[in-house]
Amino acid sequence: MIDAELEGAHVFITGRRKTELDAAVETIGSATAVIGDIADLADLDRLYEAVRDRGQGLDVLFANASVAAFFPLEQITEEHFDTLFGINVRGTLFTVQKALPLLNDGASVILNGSTNVDVGAEAFGVYAASKAATRSFARTWANELKGRGIRVNAVTPGPTDTPGLSGLAPDPEQAVGLRQHLAAQVPLGRLAHPEEIAAAVAFLASGQSSFITGSSLYVDGGMNHI
Ligand SMILES: NC(=O)c1ccc[n+]([C@@H]2O[C@H](COP(=O)([O-])OP(=O)(O)OC[C@H]3O[C@@H](n4cnc5c(N)ncnc54)[C@H](OP(=O)(O)O)[C@@H]3O)[C@@H](O)[C@H]2O)c1
Repeated sequence: MIDAELEGAHVFITGRRKTELDAAVETIGSATAVIGDIADLADLDRLYEAVRDRGQGLDVLFANASVAAFFPLEQITEEHFDTLFGINVRGTLFTVQKALPLLNDGASVILNGSTNVDVGAEAFGVYAASKAATRSFARTWANELKGRGIRVNAVTPGPTDTPGLSGLAPDPEQAVGLRQHLAAQVPLGRLAHPEEIAAAVAFLASGQSSFITGSSLYVDGGMNHI
């Protein structure tokens, strides 16, 4: 894909909440929302049916959806494990597998990872393990899809100011404390803005990154490096 085509592309988005999807379509402009849960393979089929109906395949696939929660080892439940692995690992796997027939030759696939793959943050073991699986998938799939000229990479964000990050805390007051605590660990002294992660994804999606595959691009304010 040439970069001029990347900007202004038609975008398909999915998620479980209709109000948020509608708002995102409003913001993006040229976008189609398909409500669904990536842990439900029938929902993924409906998503890709909509892509197929448009008849132009996919040049870029960004597998972003994940969930997180704090559970120390002794408190981990089957439900916590199954939910996180069901969405973050199984859901990501089938998001990419079911897209394969639609991916155009030369497409770019980007998986959303996390700096937690490298560190042992307490009470975050299942989430970190799910993101380690994602990092591993990027390596394997880069190898498996190279024959079609399809590149597969991970983007590896540090703490980013999103609803999901604040939602890790039990209440808004503790969310402020969590954000401050995490920002203090980042050499650049703050959380990432979501747009800064999006810029890295756009780079990996574009021809500017044509010799990068199987890689992991850290967008972490130096957190895991200095
Ligand atoms: N924020 C951070 O500090 C941080 C750091 C490193 C990596 N990340 C990664 O960045 C990505 C986005 O996280 P975020 O912080 O933006 O979290 P967020 O605010 O909770 O957003 C998560 C998004 O994923 C969607 N989603 C979750 N489960 C889904 C499912 N089963 N099916 C379809 N869509 C689903 C959500 O939509 P619905 O709820 O409507 O389904 C929402 O749009 C994740 O992969 C996360 O692991 C975040």
